[in-house]
Amino acid sequence: MAKIIDGKQVSANVKEQVRQETEALFQKYGKKPGLAVVIVGNDPASRVYVNNKKKACETVGFQSFEYALPEDTSQEELLELVETLNADKNVNGILVQLPVPKQIDDKAIINAISAEKDVDAFHPENVGRIMIGEYAFLPCTPAGVMELIDSTGTEISGKRCVVIGRSNIVGKPMAMLLLHRSGTVTICHSRTQNLAEITREADILVAAVGKANFVTGDMIKEGAVVIDVGMNRLENGKLCGDVNFAEAEQKASYITPVPGGVGPMTIAMLMKNTLTAFKAQNQITD
Ligand code: GUN
Repeated sequence: MAKIIDGKQVSANVKEQVRQETEALFQKYGKKPGLAVVIVGNDPASRVYVNNKKKACETVGFQSFEYALPEDTSQEELLELVETLNADKNVNGILVQLPVPKQIDDKAIINAISAEKDVDAFHPENVGRIMIGEYAFLPCTPAGVMELIDSTGTEISGKRCVVIGRSNIVGKPMAMLLLHRSGTVTICHSRTQNLAEITREADILVAAVGKANFVTGDMIKEGAVVIDVGMNRLENGKLCGDVNFAEAEQKASYITPVPGGVGPMTIAMLMKNTLTAFKAQNQITD
């Protein structure tokens, strides 16, 4: 029977480290990190995420600035706000909650955010830095997954790692982070043939597919570490991962639950990135 990886506990540890460092830096320099969160429109899921980000800022002692713009905001108006935030010395990190309404091109917005303030690590400059292993920020979800794997004490070097999903936000950077730690990495996706044969070889299996219960017990190697990035809302309103948990926990050595696994890590890593941005912008090296 698998051990459960407690994402709430690991994320609380990360946030506590950030809180302590923030407090020490405030004592020394009299300044604290600031995160601007921009939400456009009324998507209820986005509203929940943004509220959680604000709450996390309070927990770790950051300033947070929220900009809630109406659904019919134009691309020019949003770009203007991004430019203002780029120039604001009190703002160290800028996050525009995605998705944005359809009249706005999200790529144009991501490109406009100053790379030094891009705490999502979505800007092409930051994406490129990840590729060559010289990064300031890691995208929050894959970085959180690495923390969860590390919390189990599992050695990644030399292991077979399989990532299901090839999104720019999770699958691709996830594969790169595992590769940087000398994993032998395979990326699978919707066109992959003989998927179960590949996943059954995985010592570390990361599922980021977006389909409820997609990974079944027969796809998992005995003793694998299974990380479930999925957040699927079922018809009955329940939240469900990409992994069939009841089956997977019979095979895995460690497994993340949904909710309470990867989800809480994403926000903790956003706090870590914002602290990193604050230090870099203030030339703080301690
Ligand atoms: N929407 C869902 N997840 C994210 C995220 O990590 N960052 C941003 N900016 N928007 C999101």
